[in-house]
Amino acid sequence: MNLVVCWIMMVIALNGNMILHLRLVKVGADGINSLVRKRMNIEPFTINYNQMGLVATVELSDSGDNSVAWQRFLPTGPVALLPLNDTTSSLVWTHTPAQAKELQSMPPQEFVDALNDAFYKDYPKDTMTTNLMDTLSTFCSAKTIRQYPPAIVAVKDKSRACFPLGFGHAPSYVAQGAALVGDAAHRVHPLAGQGVNLGFGDVKCLTQVLADAVYSGYPIGDKNALLKYERERLMKNVPIMFGIHGLQQLYSTTFSPVVMLRSLGLQITQNLPPLKKIFMQQAMG
Ligand SMILES: Cc1cc2nc3c(=O)[nH]c(=O)nc-3n(C[C@H](O)[C@H](O)[C@H](O)COP(=O)(O)OP(=O)(O)OC[C@H]3O[C@@H](n4cnc5c(N)ncnc54)[C@H](O)[C@@H]3O)c2cc1C
Ligand SMILES: *[C@@H]1O[C@H](CO)[C@@H](O)[C@H](O)[C@H]1NC(C)=O
Repeated sequence: MNLVVCWIMMVIALNGNMILHLRLVKVGADGINSLVRKRMNIEPFTINYNQMGLVATVELSDSGDNSVAWQRFLPTGPVALLPLNDTTSSLVWTHTPAQAKELQSMPPQEFVDALNDAFYKDYPKDTMTTNLMDTLSTFCSAKTIRQYPPAIVAVKDKSRACFPLGFGHAPSYVAQGAALVGDAAHRVHPLAGQGVNLGFGDVKCLTQVLADAVYSGYPIGDKNALLKYERERLMKNVPIMFGIHGLQQLYSTTFSPVVMLRSLGLQITQNLPPLKKIFMQQAMG
């Protein structure tokens, strides 16, 4: 979002003499290190995942239909391809900071090989889990359709960049005359692709709440209206944020019972269309 700080003003004319009476709402949309948040004296709760997200623009070999997003959960972290157009996708690849830096600076062809490996290489599977999943698939009649992500042929020059990944949540989104939206209020791991959606949800809710307050004759910075915004968004954001944090934790372990549970969870999701639909609707905003 490009909007950083927006000032909403009210002008009131009295007795024929123009008296400008300004009431302001300061909206902090200035990202994870929000200065507006600091000025509001709000200290966020944070967890550092000690991971970096390497992003890049990559070229694909097949020039067919490129409309599906791919994500693979590797022991090092998830790797995801998001379609841009028929031949180009956007990459988000989670790694430890040292590995991410190495991948960022390696020669392009070596990088492309490492990336194709990440999508196609067989990793040692957890035996206990494999056995259970095999047994389970004999009970579930659903046919497993094998599909493969597209092969990557090149990485766009100078498109590689690394960003630290973490969890962050402001205990409060509002103060007198000010409100936080987007990453200034909450920061999540990109594994569920929800960051932007949470921010859009904030903006939609804040504009609605402010409009309602003004139409009902309340001053625009009214604390009660701002608190209504905060309540509504906390109710929506917090469960999603903890869900994403839970998935991050779930996929950061190789402990057998956990690996088994998460595979089982995915299998159950796959075989319960209503549940799958809910997740898909969330992802599509
Ligand atoms: C590696 C990675 C991959 C991601 N992938 C996805 C994804 O696939 N899908 C998804 O939905 N989300 C994803 N996200 C999250 C998404 O990028 C953020 O949720 C989103 O950008 C937040 O938008 P925002 O406007 O709140 O903050 P930002 O995008 O951070 O924008 C804040 C803006 O404020 C400016 N600014 C800050 N301070 C000041 C100042 N003092 N004065 C002037 N300007 C200032 C900054 O320059 C910036 O332009 C990903 C994040 C990372 C790190
Ligand atoms: C796809 O997007 C890339 C990167 O933005 C661009 O360079 C390329 O020309 C586009 N290709 C098509 C077929 O639109």
